[in-house]
Amino acid sequence: MAIIAQKCPHITVTVVDLNEKRIAKWNDADVNNIPIYEPGLAAIVKEARGRNLFFSTEVEAAIDEAELIFISVNTPTKTYGSGKGMASDLKYIELCARQIARVAKNDKIIVEKSTLPVRTAEAIKNILENTGNGVQFRILSNPEFLAEGTAVEDLLNPDRVLIGGDPTAQGQEAIQLLSDIYSNWVSKDRILTTNLWSSELSKLTANAFLAQRVSSINAMSELCEKTGANVNEVAKAIGMDSRIGPKFLNASVGFGGSCFQKDILNLVYIAKTFGLNEVADYWEQVIIMNDHQKRRFAKKIVSALYNTVTDKKIAFLGWAFKKDTNDTRESAAIYVADDLIFEQAKIAVYDPKVKHEQILEDLNYLESRTESQNNKYIASFDNPYDACKDAHAIAVLTEWDEFNDYDWKKIYDSMLKPAFVFDGRNLLDGRKLTEIGFQYQAIGS
Ligand code: UDX
Repeated sequence: MAIIAQKCPHITVTVVDLNEKRIAKWNDADVNNIPIYEPGLAAIVKEARGRNLFFSTEVEAAIDEAELIFISVNTPTKTYGSGKGMASDLKYIELCARQIARVAKNDKIIVEKSTLPVRTAEAIKNILENTGNGVQFRILSNPEFLAEGTAVEDLLNPDRVLIGGDPTAQGQEAIQLLSDIYSNWVSKDRILTTNLWSSELSKLTANAFLAQRVSSINAMSELCEKTGANVNEVAKAIGMDSRIGPKFLNASVGFGGSCFQKDILNLVYIAKTFGLNEVADYWEQVIIMNDHQKRRFAKKIVSALYNTVTDKKIAFLGWAFKKDTNDTRESAAIYVADDLIFEQAKIAVYDPKVKHEQILEDLNYLESRTESQNNKYIASFDNPYDACKDAHAIAVLTEWDEFNDYDWKKIYDSMLKPAFVFDGRNLLDGRKLTEIGFQYQAIGS
């Protein structure tokens, strides 16, 4: 919404949320305090806020005034009832649709921005048409393909913008209207229009294909470790095949983030619902591989540290699910920490953008142990040198660029010997670290 506001000064964009604290942060006089860290975002908010970009808790007034409403509420994986652990929880979407139906007094276009299972638009349409005040609603699907950490860049120069709508004249008119907004900065050949269902399913499909690549290369990383091959070399060799391509081939401690796991589970659930068990099992394997990769990394640490990490200090460099974001949802770091805490290790975290409360909240969410027990095992530091001091080992969980710039000799001197580095992101210069004296282990070599 900030990008739309920046690129279309003639359009008023109002972002509403019931959560007063969150909206207050988006309105913070110091733009660096906005709740999401994303390179370039603060400057854009600063430029547009108060001009044509507004953050407010006046949800009903905003609905009433809007011609176009983007539904961008979260759709977490269900934690109860049928589809538990797999299906998307659509309760926020439904509440949102009902509120729009109740408040709207004139015709509106409703855009699904949240990632949704295929055919959700039908449910939204049904609610709007049957509970409203006779007002006409057009439903569009406009899934978001931005990746965190590069969100601003991805939105400014998208590979494509996807808009799904009804084949009827009114549906096509609505598509045109949304397309005209994007045309303010995206060239026409990159704006793709489809029917509603193709658009909804394309989003899940794109994420499933990307996650599948990470799980495929991670599966090869384990084989590389057993055979003496090096996964970076293998990735480079296959990535140069233009049919395969170089992206999403970095072997890692496992993918994280709010989308991949959730969307694949969603796909698995939809496939099962239609009785397509082989299809469901096929995609579920991507998740199984990812869980295995996280667990395998924790096991590797324990086994290298002479099969015991009890009371040993292990420094974590990075907690976010990838660099250039403060988002920690489904981060591999959480699961690796959890496994190591089961072995009674003491974890000392340094992440340039993640705060201690978030780290503790992530661990508590797993419900493996009580908050006070977690507190005993996890500490966090505001600089890497204190996090690594007196540690037995360092584990790299996020690929923050700054990790390469540290004074690694100083870190080595402050640690217990032998000092280990487990590079879960294949980020650091292993040769340099080995020369200093570290025992260095990367993923897949
Ligand atoms: C993803 C999709 O890319 C985006 O299009 C969609 O809209 C939302 O989900 P995001 O979750 O922000 O975006 O992150 P992404 O860059 O795709 O990475 C996901 C995870 O895979 C991260 O944990 C990342 O570190 C990991 N990954 C990615 C690897 O381990 N290796 C790779 O080669 C690429």
